[in-house]
Amino acid sequence: MRQLIAGNWKMNGLLDEASAIVGPLRRGADGLGCDLLVCPPATMVMTVAHILVGSAVAVGGQDCHARPNGAHTGDVSARMLRDAGASWVILGHSERRADHGESDAAVRAKAAAAVAAGLTPIVCVGETEAERAAGRETAVVGAQLAGSLPEGFAGVVAYEPVWAIGTGRTATEADVAAMHAFIRDELVRLLGAAGAGVRILYGGSVKPSNAAALLAVPEVGGALVGGASLNAADFLAIAQAA
Ligand code: G3H
Repeated sequence: MRQLIAGNWKMNGLLDEASAIVGPLRRGADGLGCDLLVCPPATMVMTVAHILVGSAVAVGGQDCHARPNGAHTGDVSARMLRDAGASWVILGHSERRADHGESDAAVRAKAAAAVAAGLTPIVCVGETEAERAAGRETAVVGAQLAGSLPEGFAGVVAYEPVWAIGTGRTATEADVAAMHAFIRDELVRLLGAAGAGVRILYGGSVKPSNAAALLAVPEVGGALVGGASLNAADFLAIAQAA
Protein backbone atom coordinates (compact mmCIF):
# COMPACT_ATOMS: atom_id res chain seq x y z
CA MET A 1 0.00 0.00 0.00
CA ARG A 2 1.35 3.45 -0.89
CA GLN A 3 2.07 5.64 2.07
CA LEU A 4 0.18 8.92 2.46
CA ILE A 5 2.07 12.06 3.44
CA ALA A 6 -0.47 14.63 4.58
CA GLY A 7 0.31 18.24 5.49
CA ASN A 8 -1.89 19.96 8.06
CA TRP A 9 -1.25 23.68 7.85
CA LYS A 10 -3.48 24.28 10.89
CA MET A 11 -4.34 28.01 11.27
CA ASN A 12 -1.35 29.19 9.27
CA GLY A 13 -0.87 30.78 5.89
CA LEU A 14 -2.19 33.64 3.82
CA LEU A 15 -2.62 33.46 0.08
CA ASP A 16 0.87 34.60 -0.91
CA GLU A 17 2.45 32.11 1.51
CA ALA A 18 0.22 29.34 0.17
CA SER A 19 1.35 29.76 -3.39
CA ALA A 20 4.98 29.74 -2.23
CA ILE A 21 4.38 26.30 -0.73
CA VAL A 22 2.05 24.80 -3.29
CA GLY A 23 3.95 25.78 -6.46
CA PRO A 24 7.06 23.75 -5.53
CA LEU A 25 4.87 20.88 -4.33
CA ARG A 26 3.12 20.74 -7.66
CA ARG A 27 6.46 20.53 -9.44
CA GLY A 28 8.02 18.13 -6.94
CA ALA A 29 5.16 15.67 -6.62
CA ASP A 30 5.65 13.84 -9.91
CA GLY A 31 7.34 10.50 -9.54
CA LEU A 32 7.03 10.32 -5.77
CA GLY A 33 6.41 6.85 -4.41
CA CYS A 34 3.70 8.06 -2.03
CA ASP A 35 0.40 9.92 -2.07
CA LEU A 36 0.62 13.60 -1.19
CA LEU A 37 -2.07 15.74 0.45
CA VAL A 38 -2.21 19.32 1.74
CA CYS A 39 -4.87 20.58 4.13
CA PRO A 40 -4.87 24.40 4.19
CA PRO A 41 -7.23 26.55 6.26
CA ALA A 42 -10.80 26.54 4.89
CA THR A 43 -10.35 30.01 3.39
CA MET A 44 -7.72 28.68 0.99
CA VAL A 45 -9.06 25.25 0.05
CA MET A 46 -10.53 26.51 -3.21
CA THR A 47 -7.47 28.51 -4.26
CA VAL A 48 -5.05 25.73 -3.39
CA ALA A 49 -7.24 23.19 -5.20
CA HIS A 50 -7.19 25.43 -8.28
CA ILE A 51 -3.40 25.69 -8.22
CA LEU A 52 -3.08 21.92 -7.83
CA VAL A 53 -5.69 20.86 -10.36
CA GLY A 54 -4.31 18.09 -12.58
CA SER A 55 -1.35 17.52 -10.25
CA ALA A 56 -0.51 14.54 -8.06
CA VAL A 57 -1.24 16.53 -4.89
CA ALA A 58 -4.68 16.22 -3.28
CA VAL A 59 -6.37 18.86 -1.11
CA GLY A 60 -8.26 18.43 2.13
CA GLY A 61 -10.02 20.37 4.86
CA GLN A 62 -9.10 20.36 8.54
CA ASP A 63 -12.60 19.82 9.90
CA CYS A 64 -16.22 19.74 8.75
CA HIS A 65 -19.67 19.95 10.27
CA ALA A 66 -21.77 16.80 10.50
CA ARG A 67 -24.75 18.44 8.79
CA PRO A 68 -24.82 19.22 5.06
CA ASN A 69 -26.13 22.79 5.60
CA GLY A 70 -28.20 24.87 7.99
CA ALA A 71 -28.00 27.35 10.85
CA HIS A 72 -24.44 26.63 12.04
CA THR A 73 -22.68 29.98 11.99
CA GLY A 74 -18.99 29.76 11.22
CA ASP A 75 -19.02 26.12 10.25
CA VAL A 76 -18.18 24.48 6.93
CA SER A 77 -19.89 21.30 5.74
CA ALA A 78 -18.29 18.32 4.04
CA ARG A 79 -20.28 19.11 0.91
CA MET A 80 -18.86 22.64 0.91
CA LEU A 81 -15.30 21.31 1.14
CA ARG A 82 -16.02 18.92 -1.72
CA ASP A 83 -17.53 21.78 -3.70
CA ALA A 84 -14.37 23.83 -3.11
CA GLY A 85 -12.17 21.09 -4.55
CA ALA A 86 -11.22 19.04 -1.48
CA SER A 87 -11.22 15.27 -1.57
CA TRP A 88 -10.07 14.67 2.02
CA VAL A 89 -10.80 16.01 5.49
CA ILE A 90 -8.96 15.72 8.80
CA LEU A 91 -11.35 14.98 11.68
CA GLY A 92 -11.01 14.76 15.44
CA HIS A 93 -7.56 16.33 15.57
CA SER A 94 -6.51 16.65 19.21
CA GLU A 95 -6.50 20.44 18.86
CA ARG A 96 -10.19 20.33 17.89
CA ARG A 97 -10.96 17.82 20.63
CA ALA A 98 -9.25 20.15 23.15
CA ASP A 99 -10.23 23.58 21.77
CA HIS A 100 -13.80 22.75 20.77
CA GLY A 101 -14.65 19.87 23.08
CA GLU A 102 -15.22 17.49 20.19
CA SER A 103 -16.41 14.12 21.45
CA ASP A 104 -15.87 10.76 19.81
CA ALA A 105 -19.56 10.77 18.87
CA ALA A 106 -19.18 14.14 17.14
CA VAL A 107 -16.15 12.89 15.22
CA ARG A 108 -18.05 9.78 14.21
CA ALA A 109 -20.96 11.86 12.86
CA LYS A 110 -18.53 14.09 10.95
CA ALA A 111 -16.76 11.07 9.46
CA ALA A 112 -20.06 9.65 8.24
CA ALA A 113 -20.96 13.05 6.74
CA ALA A 114 -17.58 13.28 5.06
CA VAL A 115 -17.98 9.90 3.38
CA ALA A 116 -21.53 10.76 2.31
CA ALA A 117 -20.18 13.93 0.67
CA GLY A 118 -17.45 12.06 -1.19
CA LEU A 119 -14.54 13.01 1.07
CA THR A 120 -12.05 10.58 2.57
CA PRO A 121 -11.78 11.21 6.32
CA ILE A 122 -8.56 11.09 8.32
CA VAL A 123 -9.66 10.39 11.89
CA CYS A 124 -7.11 11.38 14.52
CA VAL A 125 -6.55 9.59 17.81
CA GLY A 126 -3.87 9.86 20.47
CA GLU A 127 -3.21 9.97 24.17
CA THR A 128 -1.99 12.84 26.35
CA GLU A 129 1.27 12.71 28.24
CA ALA A 130 -0.58 12.12 31.52
CA GLU A 131 -2.55 9.25 30.01
CA ARG A 132 0.66 7.61 28.78
CA ALA A 133 2.35 8.15 32.12
CA ALA A 134 -0.58 6.36 33.74
CA GLY A 135 -0.19 3.42 31.31
CA ARG A 136 -3.57 4.20 29.75
CA GLU A 137 -2.47 4.92 26.18
CA THR A 138 -4.00 1.87 24.55
CA ALA A 139 -7.22 2.18 26.58
CA VAL A 140 -7.56 5.81 25.49
CA VAL A 141 -6.79 5.16 21.83
CA GLY A 142 -8.98 2.04 21.78
CA ALA A 143 -11.93 4.02 23.14
CA GLN A 144 -11.35 6.82 20.63
CA LEU A 145 -11.34 4.34 17.75
CA ALA A 146 -14.45 2.54 18.94
CA GLY A 147 -16.29 5.83 19.45
CA SER A 148 -15.07 7.82 16.45
CA LEU A 149 -15.22 5.43 13.51
CA PRO A 150 -18.59 5.07 11.80
CA GLU A 151 -19.79 1.67 10.66
CA GLY A 152 -18.04 0.51 7.50
CA PHE A 153 -15.34 3.18 7.94
CA ALA A 154 -13.31 3.51 4.75
CA GLY A 155 -10.83 6.24 5.55
CA VAL A 156 -7.49 6.73 7.22
CA VAL A 157 -6.55 6.79 10.91
CA ALA A 158 -3.82 9.09 12.25
CA TYR A 159 -2.11 8.24 15.52
CA GLU A 160 -0.85 11.46 17.06
CA PRO A 161 0.38 11.32 20.64
CA VAL A 162 -0.70 14.73 21.94
CA TRP A 163 2.62 15.28 23.71
CA ALA A 164 4.52 14.90 20.42
CA ILE A 165 2.55 17.53 18.49
CA GLY A 166 4.51 20.69 17.83
CA THR A 167 6.96 19.89 20.63
CA GLY A 168 9.91 18.49 18.69
CA ARG A 169 9.51 15.26 20.67
CA THR A 170 8.52 12.10 18.81
CA ALA A 171 7.45 8.76 20.15
CA THR A 172 10.20 6.16 20.00
CA GLU A 173 10.09 3.78 17.07
CA ALA A 174 9.26 0.98 19.51
CA ASP A 175 6.34 2.96 20.95
CA VAL A 176 5.08 3.79 17.46
CA ALA A 177 5.36 0.13 16.44
CA ALA A 178 3.46 -1.03 19.52
CA MET A 179 0.68 1.52 19.13
CA HIS A 180 0.27 0.99 15.40
CA ALA A 181 0.08 -2.78 15.93
CA PHE A 182 -2.58 -2.20 18.59
CA ILE A 183 -4.54 0.12 16.26
CA ARG A 184 -4.35 -2.43 13.45
CA ASP A 185 -5.78 -5.13 15.73
CA GLU A 186 -8.55 -2.79 16.85
CA LEU A 187 -9.39 -1.83 13.27
CA VAL A 188 -9.75 -5.48 12.29
CA ARG A 189 -11.85 -6.14 15.39
CA LEU A 190 -14.11 -3.15 14.66
CA LEU A 191 -14.28 -3.29 10.87
CA GLY A 192 -13.52 -6.90 9.98
CA ALA A 193 -11.37 -7.61 6.95
CA ALA A 194 -11.65 -3.97 5.80
CA GLY A 195 -9.70 -2.95 8.89
CA ALA A 196 -6.60 -4.62 7.44
CA GLY A 197 -6.53 -2.11 4.59
CA VAL A 198 -6.90 1.12 6.56
CA ARG A 199 -3.76 3.25 6.43
CA ILE A 200 -2.51 4.32 9.85
CA LEU A 201 -0.51 7.55 9.78
CA TYR A 202 1.89 8.69 12.47
CA GLY A 203 1.84 12.37 13.44
CA GLY A 204 3.84 14.42 15.93
CA SER A 205 6.99 16.41 15.11
CA VAL A 206 7.71 14.53 11.89
CA LYS A 207 10.53 16.29 10.01
CA PRO A 208 13.05 15.43 7.31
CA SER A 209 15.60 14.15 9.84
CA ASN A 210 13.30 11.57 11.47
CA ALA A 211 10.89 10.76 8.63
CA ALA A 212 12.71 7.78 7.14
CA ALA A 213 12.98 5.98 10.48
CA LEU A 214 9.35 6.64 11.45
CA LEU A 215 8.01 5.71 8.02
CA ALA A 216 9.92 2.41 8.13
CA VAL A 217 8.14 1.26 11.30
CA PRO A 218 5.77 -1.65 10.60
CA GLU A 219 2.12 -0.60 10.19
CA VAL A 220 3.05 3.04 9.61
CA GLY A 221 1.12 3.95 6.47
CA GLY A 222 2.34 7.51 6.21
CA ALA A 223 2.61 10.71 8.19
CA LEU A 224 0.41 13.60 9.25
CA VAL A 225 2.78 16.55 9.26
CA GLY A 226 2.11 19.89 10.92
CA GLY A 227 4.92 22.43 11.21
CA ALA A 228 7.21 20.87 8.59
CA SER A 229 4.43 20.97 5.99
CA LEU A 230 4.66 24.77 5.94
CA ASN A 231 8.00 24.52 4.14
CA ALA A 232 7.79 22.96 0.68
CA ALA A 233 11.36 21.63 0.71
CA ASP A 234 10.91 19.97 4.12
CA PHE A 235 7.54 18.52 3.17
CA LEU A 236 8.93 17.11 -0.07
CA ALA A 237 11.93 15.70 1.79
CA ILE A 238 9.54 13.84 4.11
CA ALA A 239 7.60 12.58 1.09
CA GLN A 240 10.83 11.38 -0.50
CA ALA A 241 11.55 9.34 2.62
CA ALA A 242 8.28 7.42 2.17
O1 G3H B 1 -1.67 17.37 12.26
C1 G3H B 1 -0.46 17.41 12.49
C2 G3H B 1 0.06 17.14 13.80
O2 G3H B 1 -0.67 17.75 14.81
C3 G3H B 1 1.53 17.21 13.96
O3 G3H B 1 1.98 18.54 14.08
O4 G3H B 1 4.16 18.07 12.97
O5 G3H B 1 3.72 20.28 14.05
O6 G3H B 1 4.03 18.21 15.43
P1 G3H B 1 3.58 18.79 14.13
